[in-house]
Amino acid sequence: MRRNPDDVESTVNPESSPAPATTPRKIILDCDPGHDDAVAMLLAHGNPNIELLAVTTVVGNQTLEKVTRNALVVGTIAGITGVPFAAGCDRPLVRSIETAPDIHGESGMDGPAQPEPTIELDPRHAVDLIIDTIMAHEPGTVTLVPTAGLTNIAMAARKEPRIVERVREVVLMGGGYHVGNWSAVAEFNIKIDPEAAHIVFNEKWPVVMVGLDLTHQALATPDVVAKIEAVGTGPARFVMELMEFFTKTYKDAQGFDYPPVHDPCAVAYVIDPTVMTTRKVPVDIELTGTLTLGMTVADFRAEPPADCNTSVAVTLDHEKFWGLVTDALVRIGDVAA
Ligand code: BDR
Ligand code: CA
Repeated sequence: MRRNPDDVESTVNPESSPAPATTPRKIILDCDPGHDDAVAMLLAHGNPNIELLAVTTVVGNQTLEKVTRNALVVGTIAGITGVPFAAGCDRPLVRSIETAPDIHGESGMDGPAQPEPTIELDPRHAVDLIIDTIMAHEPGTVTLVPTAGLTNIAMAARKEPRIVERVREVVLMGGGYHVGNWSAVAEFNIKIDPEAAHIVFNEKWPVVMVGLDLTHQALATPDVVAKIEAVGTGPARFVMELMEFFTKTYKDAQGFDYPPVHDPCAVAYVIDPTVMTTRKVPVDIELTGTLTLGMTVADFRAEPPADCNTSVAVTLDHEKFWGLVTDALVRIGDVAA
């Protein structure tokens, strides 16, 4: 029977809402901070269900140099120690560099004051750090959480194909099955490197696409910001100031009353999959359309085939999601004060 993408209740796969994780999930956060990437890192660091194995950066919201510095700043503010940070690809696989200063400012993380980072960069290229980390852990234990263009992840899969069967799943922020933000139909992280996205979505690892359909429900509304303010710590103030800037740019550039805080949604899914509903559906990336380049094309016409490895996120439990973010900030405390 033909399926309707909007008919959420009746079509959620039973297996898409498993119980919350009980042992910490090992993740590699591949990011381009980025206001929402910063919140994703804080959430990953501050939640006991996550073991952050590595933070890697890739060109995206700003140049590689800028987003890498921003990642080190956030790590410093969060008090992250003993986790390698490495810089990755400084341009997409095929296309020219596209950044997002309208949303994230000239630094890529404009708004709050940024302390001098105290974390030193790992000398390895991010692609090698990703490969080394996956190969050093038991198969099926490492989850990739990309919250940026997929250049590093695609390169890692090509350089060391054995990682594909070792990765537990790829939970990525990107795409949208019926909305775009970098074109009418394409989302930024996919649009800036569609060839990389094509590689990642077509590998045999499980891919959970936490796209705009879901993240546009993760709005930093005034009550959310008030709860973060009530935490009263340095990292919480940092998030508030990020949100202040993000609110303005999302209003000016995209007409949102409150900004969608995309990237922590992917981390939240790993922490507790019941924070959202998902549906298994084949998804592929448009590479040749003149109007549709980078579109994540989801085929809802029939039940997914048995070997379907892609799911899309559908509905968010707003309160549970922001509760996770606030709790993480409470746990992190006042390290940077
Ligand atoms: C995505 O694009 C970036 O600007 C954000 O950090 C997020 O990862 C949203 O489209
Ligand atoms: Ca991002």
